[in-house]
Amino acid sequence: MLNFELYNPTNLVFGKGQIAKLKTLVPQDAKILLLYGGGSIFKNGVYDQVAAALEGFDITEFGGVEPNPHFETLMKAVEVIREKNLNFILAVGGGSVIDGAKFVSAAVKFDGDPIDILQKQIRIVDNVVPFGTVLTLPATGSEMNSGSVITIQRTHEKLSFGGRALFPLFSVCDPEVITSLPKRQLQNGVIDAYTHVMEQYLTYPAGAMLQDRFAESILQTLVEVGPSVVDNPDDYTLAANFMWSCTMALNGLIQKGVPTDWVTHMIGHELTALYDIDHARTLAIIGPNLYKVMFDTKKEKLAQYGRRVWNIQGDSTEEVAKQAIDATIRFFDTMGMKMQLSAYTTEYAKTADFIEKRFNERGWVAMGERKNITPDKVRAIVEMSY
Ligand code: NZQ
Ligand code: ZN
Repeated sequence: MLNFELYNPTNLVFGKGQIAKLKTLVPQDAKILLLYGGGSIFKNGVYDQVAAALEGFDITEFGGVEPNPHFETLMKAVEVIREKNLNFILAVGGGSVIDGAKFVSAAVKFDGDPIDILQKQIRIVDNVVPFGTVLTLPATGSEMNSGSVITIQRTHEKLSFGGRALFPLFSVCDPEVITSLPKRQLQNGVIDAYTHVMEQYLTYPAGAMLQDRFAESILQTLVEVGPSVVDNPDDYTLAANFMWSCTMALNGLIQKGVPTDWVTHMIGHELTALYDIDHARTLAIIGPNLYKVMFDTKKEKLAQYGRRVWNIQGDSTEEVAKQAIDATIRFFDTMGMKMQLSAYTTEYAKTADFIEKRFNERGWVAMGERKNITPDKVRAIVEMSY
């Protein structure tokens, strides 16, 4: 097991009717920027619950944060906070709104051009506007981690950043909010969380027995509830297990003491930036092909995953590992994922060239748990995804 520090200060408030607790969770002297997305919160009753809980507070609303939130839009929210001297942000939405709140939180007092936070990947360790969240879409884990992913429209870049000052002060997670989610977003949530676990688990054996069991149990739970929850989001037990699995998949716990490989996400972000494909769907396109191209590096853990999550029998590591990839593809298919880039765009021919070049320019030349995912391997993975 590798050395680690575990730090997570977010107060996670989980369950039915918990939005009402906002009145005690928000600091009493808060002058609040209420950040939200395209307006789903007005149709599903979440806004009404938030407004009722925060009656009497000084609230300025800022809507229009896009899926894959734009730097350009968020800078307008930064201006509002500066002009009105607000001192708290409440994000009400999915991963995009929460990630947007993290960027705004970091940018308001940033000494320099806030675009550098993204392009120079500056770690944010202090000087932030505190924020809390009301989660409306289980998927990203952003409600309980300190990472964020923002799109710069002008340059078509989707870049991540983070830092220990960017954990939400609190996150309210009421599983009942998922009843209004379209099936596509529910499917996305399951696959995003599943891939988060895979990126922290499917590396090489590191003697982290408990972390492996944590990871496998999240995968098993997602396999158990995923296909049903997308058709029955009003089943509270399914919704609660889905939501908690998504949070646990990326709140830092399972990555402690183990190597990680975030290349499926790194390539996926390029596909979203280029073709506007939903985040989770890019992961389904890339993940299985990355496991194939990096098979020799990952086969021990692939076989462990196959045996423990999919109950695949057999003595041959290679054979069980291959069947584990096939089982993953079948699961993604059950969850409504299309796994070829050609299902989303006809203009894919230069994608591998573009991404290989961009990774080289950024100096992303030695990635993955063994630092052996080079831009030419990235090219092979992307070409296999056409
Ligand atoms: O904008 P509104 O109107 O709210 O509609 C949203 C949006 O259109 C809708 N929605 C959300 N909750 C709803 C709802 N519709 C009905 N009922 C509800 N209860 O769903 C659509 C998608 O929302 P979005 O927030 O974009 O989805 P998601 O939560 O999947 O977030 C995706 C973003 O998170 C980033 C992704 O890259 C992407 O930008 N990620 C953030 C991570 C992190 N911070 O740790 C990790 C992830 O790997 C991921 O990269
Ligand atoms: Zn993700």
